[in-house]
Amino acid sequence: MTNIFTVLLNPGDEVIIPAPYWLSYPEIVKLADGVPVILKMTEKENYKLSAEALEKAITEKTKAVVINTPNNPTGILYTEEELRAIADVVVKHDIYVVADEMYEYLVYDGEKHVSIASFNKEIYDRTITCSGLAKGYAMTGWRIGYTGSSAEIAKMMGSVQSHQTSNPNSVAQKAAVEALTGPQDSVPMMREEFDKRRKYIYDRVSGLPHVKAVEPKGAFYLFVDAGDVVGKVHKGEVVDSIPKMADILINEYGVAVVPCGDFGFDTHIRLSYAISLEQIEKGIDRIEEFLKTLE
Ligand SMILES: Cc1ncc(COP(=O)(O)O)c(C=O)c1O
Repeated sequence: MTNIFTVLLNPGDEVIIPAPYWLSYPEIVKLADGVPVILKMTEKENYKLSAEALEKAITEKTKAVVINTPNNPTGILYTEEELRAIADVVVKHDIYVVADEMYEYLVYDGEKHVSIASFNKEIYDRTITCSGLAKGYAMTGWRIGYTGSSAEIAKMMGSVQSHQTSNPNSVAQKAAVEALTGPQDSVPMMREEFDKRRKYIYDRVSGLPHVKAVEPKGAFYLFVDAGDVVGKVHKGEVVDSIPKMADILINEYGVAVVPCGDFGFDTHIRLSYAISLEQIEKGIDRIEEFLKTLE
């Protein structure tokens, strides 16, 4: 991402980022002297950017739009139809798409991950696709990501990276080659395991008071609207914000949730199901205990 935006942006160039978003996009855009233009999506839109909303937000300064599917933090997927409509707008206005497909291997319910670059030459030429091994191969921390773009952009990204970090370390590179060329059975095995946890966590949270979740179809997160908790009283103390709720949960109940203010949604929390089913069960039991004390 840093390579992409460093190469793509001139000072003042705008990048359209639908919210909720992975929290680093706006910061990386700013580091590259660009201007993040945040479009806040609603539950009714399934938290997805539509072609119409994109077109309305495009200005003379727009350089790119970020599309992240499957999405962090919502777990939502864009359909082929939605992506085709977005692609048409991108081509019409001659901007770029930064397609973050980090969770491409983690898609459930027989749904299909679709790459926006796959439709035609026009959109292919304007897309920088990025992915990595952190999620599909459970290699978070190994720092191996990759991009697909025009040769021109790729060459410039290579130059930027050669001066910033030189290269990912050779041990991680060897491990990545092994992951990509070795037996692939661990990927569907992991996906099946995630799927069980996904169904469990979504069902459990759907039955809790004061909160509401969207059913995730990809990635390993549950995006939970906890806006109704704000203003309620917990053991004599007002829960005056979502970060306050998260503080109570970690300090008094020993369960970690991510407040989504940094993801562009200060009414929501994100739960991760990249832990064992037993741990998830314990965590949700504790969240339930907290929610039931609220007055
Ligand atoms: C949507 C998305 N893109 C990119 C990344 C970056 O992954 P990493 O830096 O671990 O390769 C993450 C990590 O959480 C992510 O959620």
